[in-house]
Amino acid sequence: MEPWQVLAILYRGGEAAKQEPRLLGTVENELGLRPWLESQGHELIVSDSKEGPHSDLAKHIVDAEVVITTPFHPGYLTRDLIDKAKNLKICITAGVGSDHVDLNAAVERKIQVMEVTGSNVSSVAEHVVMSILLLVRNFVPAHEMIERGDWMVSQIARNAFDLEGKVVGTIGAGRIGYRVLERLMPFNTKEHVYHDYIALSKDAEQAVRARRVEDVKDLVSQCDVVTVNCPLHEGTRNLVNADLLKHFKKGAWLVNTARGAICDKDAVAAALKSGRLSGYAGDVWNVQPAPKDHVWRTMKNPLGGGNGMTPHYSGTTLDAQARYAAGTRTILENYLNGKPQDLANIIVGIGKYETKAYGQR
Ligand code: NAI
Repeated sequence: MEPWQVLAILYRGGEAAKQEPRLLGTVENELGLRPWLESQGHELIVSDSKEGPHSDLAKHIVDAEVVITTPFHPGYLTRDLIDKAKNLKICITAGVGSDHVDLNAAVERKIQVMEVTGSNVSSVAEHVVMSILLLVRNFVPAHEMIERGDWMVSQIARNAFDLEGKVVGTIGAGRIGYRVLERLMPFNTKEHVYHDYIALSKDAEQAVRARRVEDVKDLVSQCDVVTVNCPLHEGTRNLVNADLLKHFKKGAWLVNTARGAICDKDAVAAALKSGRLSGYAGDVWNVQPAPKDHVWRTMKNPLGGGNGMTPHYSGTTLDAQARYAAGTRTILENYLNGKPQDLANIIVGIGKYETKAYGQR
């Protein structure tokens, strides 16, 4: 068998990755793949350099047969780069969400795109529930007040509410969206609504008290809390824009751990500033790493709170990293041995989409 060149674009972990070997998704720890791949005679190139024509991604894409990257530090496989990739057969997302690959170009070039489906969906669902709670209960400003040495309960309580009795809606009710609704059940919310072109079964709807809403404007107008849990594709890029935000209830909370570019950066910041939104939280950004002056880092509501942004880490807990590293290896082993792949992991098969989640085609 010919040796392959496997290129992995991962995030730099620094000291933390040296001290904590379970940080598998880092440049330092290489998803645990090197000993195994090299024992099979293959070459592994690992880097975090991914931007611009002189990056390692642009340099090594030319010969690589396999590219692995994570959504946390995405190697953007644009059509231009895919055109240069003369040997590329398979792109593997170590995690979930393959929008960093130009999927239409991959279809045309018969390059497979796979992800480790399900590997971090519980991790993200937990983060969503946490974010909903911290916004609704006005947690971040309360903690900041304590660190500052201040104590003025009224300043926090004037914008703190219970999640009990609120209407929560999800845009996208797949693995993560559904798990969010499941996890909200003990909170005695008033109602759960969802918007997804794939309807849940009646039993699944009943189990999480969910009602489907056909039109996304109708959905947001009914919700106290909206959470975004759909992939980024042509139909969802900029979906939450200035026009849709006008249909939100005044003072609603919005949580997006799906992809930053699903929400219009400036429209969200303006809606928070004006109080149309009381809060925005999530861990995904339109560009990653986010520039230092990205407005989402510091935006606030009129009362000085409402920002629950973090770096992209909800799906990369140590538990999740163990799962997506193992899943990446399984995909590689199947590929190496010509064994069939788990269908649920295939986003783009040979020349066609194998999932319905990346838009209605
Ligand atoms: P999934 O494929 O199980 O579910 C996605 C759902 O979104 C599907 O039911 C699909 O029909 C629906 N959908 C697609 N387009 C839609 C639209 N225009 N309107 C409404 N619904 C639409 O995917 P899963 O596992 O739930 O993940 C969802 C997304 O979450 C991923 O694609 C990824 O972008 C993001 N994610 C973020 C992570 C993080 O660390 N922040 C980690 C894992 C996933």
